[in-house]
Amino acid sequence: MVIRAFSALLIAALGCSLAMAEPQWNKPYPELTEALRLKGDRARGEDAFVICQGCHRVGALGRADGSYPRLAGQHASVLIKQIADVRSGRRSNPKMLPFADHQAISVQEIADIAAYLTTLPVPPDNGRGRGNELGRGERLYVMDCASCHGPRGEGDPQRYYPRVSGQHYRYLVREGILIRDGARKNANPDMVKAIRQYSDEDVAAVSDYISRLPVDLPR
Ligand code: HEC
Ligand code: HEC
Repeated sequence: MVIRAFSALLIAALGCSLAMAEPQWNKPYPELTEALRLKGDRARGEDAFVICQGCHRVGALGRADGSYPRLAGQHASVLIKQIADVRSGRRSNPKMLPFADHQAISVQEIADIAAYLTTLPVPPDNGRGRGNELGRGERLYVMDCASCHGPRGEGDPQRYYPRVSGQHYRYLVREGILIRDGARKNANPDMVKAIRQYSDEDVAAVSDYISRLPVDLPR
């Protein structure tokens, strides 16, 4: 009895110290909860997005060279989580931080920008790969990615799973490698497990397949 109580305590303490060292990827924290709760205003979001456009481009279409991702058409919950994660240091992005920190935008503006971006059209002119390994890319995607990102790359707003369809190939490759190598700290650990064994060629093949998925916005 005593032993059992002791080991329960030990497990609780261990779990606690692990959680402190590495915050759970989707554990709520006050700013994230607040930004998700606030009602975003599309028109105000369009104004606030002006400081983001220098990098993410007009219409939030990003750059095909993968330096800046597309944000157009992304789920509002995903946008809010990624912005809040950058502000809180859960996701490292030193380039963007000065434009997204507490001096630059308010929590209300995070909600406004997300409300604006999620309604933007996603033209099918995103950067693609070489197209030489699409069969392999499809097999990998169906086996390891579709369970979360959806059969058409549509993601899941309830679970913060990003839409990946319509994204630039080179950005997908870059993030795939960061996630595989454990450098994107806020990533779902089950995804890290799924992609851990991938070679650079596997990441390229699956990203090429994803970059060709048609975007069907539910609007
Ligand atoms: C100085 C350039 C720069 C500015 C300005 C900038 N960003 Fe970014 N942003 C980036 C880069 C670079 C990335 C990709 C980071 C990476 O590779 O992990 C990014 C990623 C993001 C992501 C994550 C996208 C994804 O698919 O995971 C969101 C959301 C985002 N930015 C929103 C914003 C918003 C909103 C603003 C304005 C308040 C903004 N950014 C301003 C450079 C910038
Ligand atoms: C267990 C669910 C899950 C699985 C399986 C999964 N992902 Fe993800 N993926 C996520 C989540 C959640 C995020 C957002 C992570 C975050 O909050 O930082 C993400 C983010 C990404 C991103 C970055 C998108 C962006 O806009 O920045 C890419 C690229 C990606 N996943 C590719 C893949 C590929 C390729 C596979 C299959 C090899 C895969 N994922 C499997 C859940 C998953």
